[in-house]
Amino acid sequence: MTAAHRTVIVEPDSTMAAAIVTACPEGTSVVSRLDSQLTPPAGSSDDGTQVLVIGPSVDLDAALTTAERLRRDDPRAAVILISRRLDTSTLVAALRSGVHEVLSQHSLAELAHSISHAHSTRARVKRADDVPVHRRARVTTVFAAKGGVGKTTVSTSLASSLASRGEKTALLDLDVAFGDVAVTLNLFPARDISDAAIVGDSLDHPTLQSMLTEHASGLTVLAAPHEPGRSELITPESVTRVIELLAASHDHVLIDTPPALDERVLAAIDLSDLILLVATLDVPALKNLRAALDTLTLIGVSADRQRVLLNRADAEVGVSLADVPAALGRPVSAILPSSRDVPGAVNRGEVLVTANPRHPFSVAIARIATDLSQADDNALPTTSTPPIAGAFLRDRLRARPWRRTAATSSVGAP
Ligand SMILES: Nc1ncnc2c1ncn2[C@@H]1O[C@H](COP(=O)(O)OP(=O)(O)O)[C@@H](O)[C@H]1O
Ligand SMILES: [Mg+2]
Repeated sequence: MTAAHRTVIVEPDSTMAAAIVTACPEGTSVVSRLDSQLTPPAGSSDDGTQVLVIGPSVDLDAALTTAERLRRDDPRAAVILISRRLDTSTLVAALRSGVHEVLSQHSLAELAHSISHAHSTRARVKRADDVPVHRRARVTTVFAAKGGVGKTTVSTSLASSLASRGEKTALLDLDVAFGDVAVTLNLFPARDISDAAIVGDSLDHPTLQSMLTEHASGLTVLAAPHEPGRSELITPESVTRVIELLAASHDHVLIDTPPALDERVLAAIDLSDLILLVATLDVPALKNLRAALDTLTLIGVSADRQRVLLNRADAEVGVSLADVPAALGRPVSAILPSSRDVPGAVNRGEVLVTANPRHPFSVAIARIATDLSQADDNALPTTSTPPIAGAFLRDRLRARPWRRTAATSSVGAP
């Protein structure tokens, strides 16, 4: 590690300090008190990153106050807390204070990896005053009322395509229980959207930035939780906060969704310039898509924000492409071919659009990406006020997430 990446341990107990040093990269220094000069003064010419490893003998409140101060004053610095116990209240308090990671004192073997991750994410975070707050991404939600039609394929492919042409792109996985954006992109996220949700109202740009995982295409991903149980932590308010922050620092934000119009998806749709609705050429997918289009219209999402995308449009499954506009009451905006190379690339840990840009699937995705980047990116479209029946339906959807099986009974019964 170069001198530009400083690691400092704060631990008064010399035996414990020695144990921590052994687990740290070479060149790590040790101080015994938190009030030592821990980081170069903000604004100094030292542009490197600093990781403070705060040991278990340091008073927890003092450690959290330091983490909070550094998060506010110095985005180059990250705090890793080593704790005697990993109980939920410590974890939550630590994340709220901006601590990068909490490790048990019995898991020091993981420390080197945590330090290296903390340095690399801090290096990506520019100084807070560099954050381009004026930037306003085009926000696109990819939705379908049915699983397996290609939402994740479309969102990951489109996002990689935009990122690889140099557009600053973020992909948010809102399929919070069974999200597979990370596995599709062969990523191993250290942090996910549930960590961002725990931080609550104080979530800011540097903290969110440290929770993103970078893909080789340049795309940044905020993954779904690794453990489905953590999805409970993700409120619609936290989804709104995350999307607003991502939108302030990217050109494009894409959002992958579960096959349910739940309250998190509604929060995303409220902030979206465009909803890409994916279907395949089979009767259930088209029936569900029709219901989804009607529902979106009822809750006040104007038709000009909805786009129909037919995936696997050349698959011979009995429904003809020509019949689709009449079945949906809507034109089809884009079609994607079916190819076994799509899952084939994923199984090799690649993304087809970047691994083989000339492939017909990649060419079709690139065309949609061009449409998205050339679209007139005015400020957010004003969300039209839903008609009264729509407001009623929206309340019902919020109260009872709309699952595939409930689709027909929810829709049409306002
Ligand atoms: N155009 C396509 N050609 C071939 N296979 C596809 C295509 N689109 C998606 N698939 C495959 O279909 C399966 C489901 O796609 P996925 O994107 O995970 O759907 P969803 O996110 O809607 O559940 C995956 O195995 C994916 O590789
Ligand atoms: Mg999916």
